[in-house]
Amino acid sequence: MQLISQSPAQTFELGKWIGEHCQQGDVLLLTGELGSGKTLFTKGLAGGLGIDAERVLSPSFTIIFEHTQGRLPLYHMDFYRLNRIEELEDLGLERYFAGDGVLVVEWADRVAGAMPAAGLAIHFDWQGEQERRIVFSAKNDYWQNVLAQRRQRGDVRKTDQGER
Ligand SMILES: Nc1ncnc2c1ncn2[C@@H]1O[C@H](COP(=O)(O)OP(=O)(O)O)[C@@H](O)[C@H]1O
Ligand SMILES: [Mg+2]
Repeated sequence: MQLISQSPAQTFELGKWIGEHCQQGDVLLLTGELGSGKTLFTKGLAGGLGIDAERVLSPSFTIIFEHTQGRLPLYHMDFYRLNRIEELEDLGLERYFAGDGVLVVEWADRVAGAMPAAGLAIHFDWQGEQERRIVFSAKNDYWQNVLAQRRQRGDVRKTDQGER
């Protein structure tokens, strides 16, 4: 499912919608260029989990952020600064893979194969100053249903660019 976001607020709302539907053990893999909206979306997602969105940061050097104030723990990883995949082994990230919370990974393409299987993959494309294309790819039945429900509600249709 592809959506066009026409403002930062719309991207935040999309994140919130996803956050409201997150379940324990969910893995969401985010890809897209710098400035395409991954962190803003994650802020919305945190909001949807009941976490103060302001707590979600775009880190310079921190790779993993843990937020435990919400309905489920949110583990937010950002691999922008990862230079070599070998560095991953030193980070001891396995404990976040146990499935007790929601794992959101920015720059997931830099750690391909090293993360748990995604339930939902989300790709962000810069289309213009205020416009982003957001492509949701459900990898399991649960997320397929969530996306299908939104399509049925109809409010997606006018910006829906088609299936993928
Ligand atoms: N429709 C939009 N969706 C998301 N971000 C947008 C949009 N329009 C403008 N922006 C701006 O683009 C930037 C996105 O930054 P960020 O979420 O940190 O990107 P990333 O994490 O992908 O590097 C923000 O400054 C935001 O205000
Ligand atoms: Mg970011």
